Amino acid sequence: MNQHARLDDAPIPFVDVAAQRRRLGSRIDTAIARVLDHCQFILGPEVRALEQELAAFCGARHVIGTASGTDALLLVLLAKGVGGGDAVICPAFTFAATAEVVALLGATPVFVDVDETTFTIDPLSFERGIATARRLGLNPKAVFPVDLFGLPADYDRLSAIANAEGMFVLADAAQSFGASSHGRPVGTLAPVTATSFFPAKPLGCYGDGGAVFTDDADLAATIESLRVHGQGEDKYDNVRIGITGRLDALQAAVLIEKLKIFPDEIRARNRVAERYGASLGNLCVVPRVPAGLTSIWAQYTIRLAPGVRSPVAAELKAQAIPTAIYYPKPVHRQGAYRHFPVADGGLPVTDRLADEVLSLPMHAYLDEPTQDRIIAALRRALTR
Ligand SMILES: Cc1ncc(COP(=O)(O)O)c(C=O)c1O
Repeated sequence: MNQHARLDDAPIPFVDVAAQRRRLGSRIDTAIARVLDHCQFILGPEVRALEQELAAFCGARHVIGTASGTDALLLVLLAKGVGGGDAVICPAFTFAATAEVVALLGATPVFVDVDETTFTIDPLSFERGIATARRLGLNPKAVFPVDLFGLPADYDRLSAIANAEGMFVLADAAQSFGASSHGRPVGTLAPVTATSFFPAKPLGCYGDGGAVFTDDADLAATIESLRVHGQGEDKYDNVRIGITGRLDALQAAVLIEKLKIFPDEIRARNRVAERYGASLGNLCVVPRVPAGLTSIWAQYTIRLAPGVRSPVAAELKAQAIPTAIYYPKPVHRQGAYRHFPVADGGLPVTDRLADEVLSLPMHAYLDEPTQDRIIAALRRALTR
């Protein structure tokens, strides 16, 4: 086998965490060794240092490191006292964690539809979801705009509706930290924002992690208490019922190093997305970023006509090119969530997207020859 054939067959990673690890070299090892030396694994100095650096990065006044993105969402709902009788409006085209935290607290997720081009909450469906919640005797308390695949939701319109209804906005930015809307970074687009540092996220750690961002000092103080069992003056003074929800010092040490190269990675992700868009735009529906927004491209997701997706994915797989479907079964059709209400009028866009979306390999280390191989294979599969 010659060199050329070998390169053409090599498996392509969907997200290349190892390439980033090679770039960071011994810096991560040194940072981890520092934690191992001082042994302050729980809320060691790296956690506060990271929180300050994340605040400086996005401009939020307060950042609270959490054990995961799910805990970040849960801690905000706990702080806001969400519970039985409350409705939280969630898109159904998302990862289950968005609705899970609502249901865990005994509140009711009310599922709404997303916009056909941005895949984020459709404001008209949001209004219908509020009406559905009221009709069912629920108190519409909050909305979770999810910045799906890294693109910020339409915060201006969603916040205007939420404010008029007396609801709070919690941005589920698990997929979008590093993106922006009209010059404002994610972390400052809503009064409170939650993100995830799951390893495959644009800014990921080496395990589970997350963070809450807010300008509200009282809310930040409550969440800091809740993430340590509702502690008051000290850890054996419990003033509210909380959880073990804090970020590990080891993960904070990793994230401090990764944050240093994040701006460069953001540029690289955008270059990859632009190349995909330029090469595939005439073959299939490619993502479109509305004016004034930037995406962090947590996923690069195209749309293919129903019936085309499976054979195309199989053809790419045969050439060692991975693809993924986010999400084949939207949350409102999952066994655990089927009994929760959906907005009047149903969720036709969500149902359609679930049959049509296909995500391609996307990360900051996708080099041009490898991306060209993906594009050429997709072109062959789609023009056959
Ligand atoms: C939209 C969304 N919300 C919440 C989460 C939960 O984050 P974590 O896995 O860190 O708990 C994820 C993670 O994939 C997500 O994509």
